[in-house]
Amino acid sequence: DMEQYFSEKLLEWYETAKRDLPWRRHRDPYYIWVSEIMLQQTRVDTVIPYFHRFIERFPTITDLALAPEEDVLKCWEGLGYYSRARNLQAAAQQVVERHGGRVPSDKASVSALKGVGPYTAGAILSIAFGQPEPAVDGNVMRVLSRYFLLEDDIMKPATRVRMETLAARLIPEGGATDFNQALMELGALVCTPKSPSCMTCPVMEHCQGRLAGVETQLPVKTKA
Ligand code: ADE
Repeated sequence: DMEQYFSEKLLEWYETAKRDLPWRRHRDPYYIWVSEIMLQQTRVDTVIPYFHRFIERFPTITDLALAPEEDVLKCWEGLGYYSRARNLQAAAQQVVERHGGRVPSDKASVSALKGVGPYTAGAILSIAFGQPEPAVDGNVMRVLSRYFLLEDDIMKPATRVRMETLAARLIPEGGATDFNQALMELGALVCTPKSPSCMTCPVMEHCQGRLAGVETQLPVKTKA
């Protein structure tokens, strides 16, 4: 069916197309976490040097927890959205206090950390721990809305929930780490907002948005 086709083709494509990104070289949950927080409002190219500097300056969660806040903000300077840095340090302190300095691997504990919403929790649990949790952000909603021709308004919370249910169902057995990153990668490299590269898309053949000729009009998003 078109769901199984999607997951198989996407994983196959990711194997050859994935970028060699610094946080993909390790499975360290701390690295995954830092990268996902940085990537939330910032492009990959911009994040890379910041990620290297941050990890070099704060190699472990404990280092981050114990650092002076001004050092953390200094390291974040230029990335913007500084509450991300403050929350990250506060969460590192929570991890030290509650979990002995190791990122917890259960959903409730991860989700309870400062600055960790459903997307970040899903990303950490799936990418770092291989758990079959969805990680649905704007890129992923764009990909899913196009492939499955979902015309629900992505500004509505119910739409995100629906997408998360769908994304969870699509995760292949034992393949959460790669599958979720493959979805993000397709959204970043191929299924882009304005002029998607459908001719290089591994799932174009069954893309319902493309078949209907409405791919660039998806996802449906009302103004906030
Ligand atoms: N955007 C958000 N998370 C990402 C990741 N893990 N890799 C690439 N781009 C991303």
